[in-house]
Amino acid sequence: MGYTDTVSKAREVLAHKFWELLHDECRDGCVLGIGTGTTIEFMLSYGVRRGYVGLLRRCILFCSSIRSEMYLRKIGLKAASLTFVDDLDIYVDSADEVDDRKYMIKGGGGAMLREKVLCSLSRKKYFFVDFAKRSAMIGEKKFVPIEIEYVALPLLAKFLALHGYRYEVRNAKAKYGPIMTDNNNLIVDVYTGALRDPETFDREIASIPGVVTTGIFTPKHVTMIFVGYPDRLEIID
Ligand code: 5RP
Repeated sequence: MGYTDTVSKAREVLAHKFWELLHDECRDGCVLGIGTGTTIEFMLSYGVRRGYVGLLRRCILFCSSIRSEMYLRKIGLKAASLTFVDDLDIYVDSADEVDDRKYMIKGGGGAMLREKVLCSLSRKKYFFVDFAKRSAMIGEKKFVPIEIEYVALPLLAKFLALHGYRYEVRNAKAKYGPIMTDNNNLIVDVYTGALRDPETFDREIASIPGVVTTGIFTPKHVTMIFVGYPDRLEIID
């Protein structure tokens, strides 16, 4: 089996768990937060193929990105406006990298601000990742995205240079120039290497004026992480 096939198999294992969990935990009127990315869309399309999404029609849905709002619409569901968001019952999402201490890097899809808001408002926070995203310490495999107001770039750049971190302003694919997030901000991707102390890194970066948020999620943002393998599921709890 090639790498793509094993990841697809792992996602099937995750999708099975995803729907089992929602069937167990979603009551009528449940307020559900939906994350962003290919994994979450895989989970949803798996449910469409098996006729499970009726369950979501009985929930109030909030999305962490315009992309996810559009995806829901495509499969016949509607997201509520974030203007009215308050406490959520459950938040479901994926991540770019996770470790066994329950730290995660998110924002590969550029949606970490709304993801962090929704998961912070949520009573239960479940994350679904394939095995390739697990590491001993976050930062080993992925860069840390940082969402900033455009004017914060020089200050952030000075901080990163002082600490010897390489970084890139994230560029758009089909536009010449940087991407703008759903919140009209820039993203700076920082290559940190393995982060022994992600909370200090997060706090220092977040204290720079104009930094909106980082892609570091800490154990307080997590109830459980489900890690899918082609033949099994492991839980970081
Ligand atoms: C988006 C995110 C995603 O959860 C993360 O990038 C994972 O994406 P994918 O499921 O496509 O691998 O944080 O901001």
